[in-house]
Amino acid sequence: MAKEPLASAFGKFTYGVYVVGARHGGRANALTCAWVMRVSHRPPLVAVAVGETRFSHDLIAEAGAFSVNVLARDQLELARHFGSKSGRDVDKFAEVPYRTAATGAPILEGVAAWLDCRLVGSFPAGDHTVFVGEVVKAWAGDKEPLRYDPRDYWG
Ligand SMILES: Cc1cc2nc3c(=O)[nH]c(=O)nc-3n(C[C@H](O)[C@H](O)[C@H](O)COP(=O)(O)O)c2cc1C
Repeated sequence: MAKEPLASAFGKFTYGVYVVGARHGGRANALTCAWVMRVSHRPPLVAVAVGETRFSHDLIAEAGAFSVNVLARDQLELARHFGSKSGRDVDKFAEVPYRTAATGAPILEGVAAWLDCRLVGSFPAGDHTVFVGEVVKAWAGDKEPLRYDPRDYWG
């Protein structure tokens, strides 16, 4: 598969911007994700594709739960923050206020919506793992969601 048409075709995909978080062994972490989708009505399931090299990857597997924070349009800086450094090197929550959902996963302030999910399945997908979560609690406010624009991140 030639790289250029593939990159151009994927460039036509549309995404939201999410911060996916987990807590295990007293450690909370989260990463910015665009590859998030709803995959079932009943039960309500969401899938997130997380790179195998991410610190969050094993944390989600070990926690058996994760949160999906739907960033609001005024939260681009949070998207950059959680997407530009690794929890392996820094505590990304050191200066970011959050609270803990029933599963233990972190919920950010000021988001458009959030989901608290119990991990019900996972499977390898190339260099990512698709984690499937059943939504155990959800909340939505009045804010518009942030939409993914590559120019916001990659110049
Ligand atoms: C806008 C944006 C979207 C991203 N989407 C994903 C994604 O869907 N899956 C993924 O594994 N990484 C994604 N990343 C990269 C991770 O957020 C980034 O590698 C992060 O630093 C990993 O953090 P961690 O090592 O603490 O888990 C995205 C980054 C940005 C800025």
